[in-house]
Amino acid sequence: MTRALALLADLRSRGVELETDGARLRWRPAFLAAPLVQLILAERAGLVELLTGPDRLERCPACRLPLDSARRCPKCFDRLCVDCGRPTGSYFVMRCVPCGHCLQEAVEPSPAAGASPDGDAVLCGDSRAVLVGLPDGLADLCVTDPPFNVGLEYDAHDDALPLADYLDLLHAVFRQVHRVLKPAGSLYVAICHEREPDVAILLRELGFH
Ligand SMILES: C[S@@+](CC[C@H](N)C(=O)[O-])C[C@H]1O[C@@H](n2cnc3c(N)ncnc32)[C@H](O)[C@@H]1O
Ligand SMILES: [Zn+2]
Ligand SMILES: [Zn+2]
Repeated sequence: MTRALALLADLRSRGVELETDGARLRWRPAFLAAPLVQLILAERAGLVELLTGPDRLERCPACRLPLDSARRCPKCFDRLCVDCGRPTGSYFVMRCVPCGHCLQEAVEPSPAAGASPDGDAVLCGDSRAVLVGLPDGLADLCVTDPPFNVGLEYDAHDDALPLADYLDLLHAVFRQVHRVLKPAGSLYVAICHEREPDVAILLRELGFH
């Protein structure tokens, strides 16, 4: 893919329309294109050529919107696999769920991430079991939305545990999170007001500050 074609794909997928009379180039809305104006000017000749030739933009097979240069659809929030061509099931995760192909431009693995040679992985399971398998000091950030224990209905989780059992569950998970986070790592916890005091105390006891 040429730079001009990649730029055109990115502009179109953001909703920027470009027009040319064969020499001049116009785009709108200006505010959407603003971060890319320098690039547009640098690629002007290539863009004019593309706009006056046959449509070479790739479109989302599901919604027909133009894909960006990374073959992502901003509406379906999905990316087409460079290997099998199917939707991968994710906008961000570099591994294609249907065929297993992993994009090489994935983020460089952290030296500590010995278990993840491709740099990215989706590990599914009980977080207590999954976290145990990860090395110390691996992660910069943990974002979590644990159960609130307010009696919601889940398929496989009892959300009306005795308070002590509920806090035991959180303790087991957050103990591992503390170990797996880097010393200067961050933890974001979504929790309801009723549980906030207990969870704050539990986290302090585990060494979070
Ligand atoms: C507040 S909900 C999170 C909802 C999620 N953020 C979403 O938008 O779908 C808490 C979830 O944690 C799950 N859960 C409970 N114990 C777990 C455990 N030990 N490991 C992984 N998930 C667990 C529950 O089944 C429930 O789906
Ligand atoms: Zn789409
Ligand atoms: Zn694939």
